[in-house]
Amino acid sequence: MQNKQNRRQFLRFLGRTGLVIGAGGILGNLVACGGEETPKPSPTIPKPKPSTSLIEGIQHSSQDELVLAKGLNQQVLISWNDPISEKDQFGFNNDYLAFVPLDKNDPTDGLLWVNHEYVHPLFVSDYNEATNDNKTKEQVEKEMYSLGGSIVRIQKNKQGQWKVIENDPYNRRITAQTPIPFNWDSPIAGATEGIGTFANCSGGITPWGTILTCEENYDYYYGERVYDQEGKSSIAVREDGYGWEKFYNRPPEHYGWVVEVDVKTGEAQKHIALGRCAHECATMFETPDGRLVVYTGDDSNDEHLYKFVGDKPRDLKSGTLYVANTEKGEWISLNYDDQAILQEKFKDQTEVLVRVREAAKLLGATPLNRPEDIEIDPLTGHVLIALTNNKPKGDLLGEILKIEEGSEDKTSTSFKASTFLAGGEATGFACPDNMAFDNKGNLWFTSDISGSSVGKEAYAPFGNNGLFLVPSFGSQKGEVIQIASAPMDAELTGPFFSPDSKELFLSVQHPGELSKSKEELTSHWPNGGETLPKPSVVVISGETLDKIQNLS
Ligand code: FEO
Ligand code: CA
Ligand code: CA
Repeated sequence: MQNKQNRRQFLRFLGRTGLVIGAGGILGNLVACGGEETPKPSPTIPKPKPSTSLIEGIQHSSQDELVLAKGLNQQVLISWNDPISEKDQFGFNNDYLAFVPLDKNDPTDGLLWVNHEYVHPLFVSDYNEATNDNKTKEQVEKEMYSLGGSIVRIQKNKQGQWKVIENDPYNRRITAQTPIPFNWDSPIAGATEGIGTFANCSGGITPWGTILTCEENYDYYYGERVYDQEGKSSIAVREDGYGWEKFYNRPPEHYGWVVEVDVKTGEAQKHIALGRCAHECATMFETPDGRLVVYTGDDSNDEHLYKFVGDKPRDLKSGTLYVANTEKGEWISLNYDDQAILQEKFKDQTEVLVRVREAAKLLGATPLNRPEDIEIDPLTGHVLIALTNNKPKGDLLGEILKIEEGSEDKTSTSFKASTFLAGGEATGFACPDNMAFDNKGNLWFTSDISGSSVGKEAYAPFGNNGLFLVPSFGSQKGEVIQIASAPMDAELTGPFFSPDSKELFLSVQHPGELSKSKEELTSHWPNGGETLPKPSVVVISGETLDKIQNLS
């Protein structure tokens, strides 16, 4: 049996050589503690075998910090309310991120697009839902300004740090007051443009470098149009909504779309052909003949997964929208001309797209457990869909669904669906949400356990929300490794890699969301002390990220 002295020497030897053995356990944890002397290896210790480099994950955490795995560091890039120009500030609750280099040969200079998803009135408009009576128009307008998106120029300096270039001419805001045209030949609720975008959750990027930002829970702002049995409609306003309809009369049909933004000009358009629902994301694939295939999930209990297939190269107007029947492995056409049942119920294709949830159900679409983010595995071509959970159906922990399309160009109308990874204590995660692949082809994903559930009952084993890695190479291939844990009440969202995968841009959304008042804050992240919590974008880098890029 190894005595204490020999054991210490062995650990020092490992530290000196940098060799890492074993996942977790005492050796795994102590391996970094290198000694100052240079002892000889004990003759009682067997010669270490060549070993693949292991990525050490973290334990679940309930700290008010962004906790990272060893060998990673963080830098706050920008926070809510930071000035980006003389007239504009960074918005609230940052979610999807995309970095678009200004010159594709220079990965260190470009534009960062940031979604701003929803407001917390206590912080944004100083309106406490529990104690205040009537929200004022001025308060509503503060909320309207804080949503939509931000475009900021960022550059990496010689010390390897990313900085926002304040007052850069590219810096601008898109808000809930920005007019945005519809990419469609017929008017939508009587208009050819809508005012503003909000509820911008996740998104996607196009091969030509524009971004797609998705309007998810739009019904909290101006309500939703509902229909009775006779087909008469009215607007239903949510009791837990933000009350914007009291001051602005805007049709709900103008929201719930996928919005394309040119980050260089700020020009935007809403793509009607992709349908109207609580879009989580829009993930684009270009076929060899230049047509576009776009996957998008409708993130509500029992809603559906959609796929648009374009008719012409790089065109998002003419084409077919399909909805998935995952049991039969069929993409069902939502084309008015193809479906007699749609012709009975709706007057034209425009109405089908505006009321796409109803159309999908008439055609036998499969109800899913909150389809959130979608990514295409660059190594296998499989389409991965995060199904976060469906509490009324008893699915508390969610899964990642895998779709294998019937054709390589992804235009096929048949596919095979299976579970890729299930949430649970065995895998160490619950409620998967945003996903990203790094340059190497490793999968990263974040979790979205709702604020009120974190740490409770079925969610107790998982701690705060996190960021996870599933390596595609090495001895840990296919394992789920937790890489980061979010501050109190927060969710990590929008993971996006720099062009060389040297850095990961990540949103820390809604820290301190459960605070009852500014005097009873549940988080002070990122500035600590008694400061207000601030949603922020962080940059993660370090030797562990480099190591992950070199797994083989
Ligand atoms: Fe906004 Fe579905 O997360
Ligand atoms: Ca999300
Ligand atoms: Ca979510």
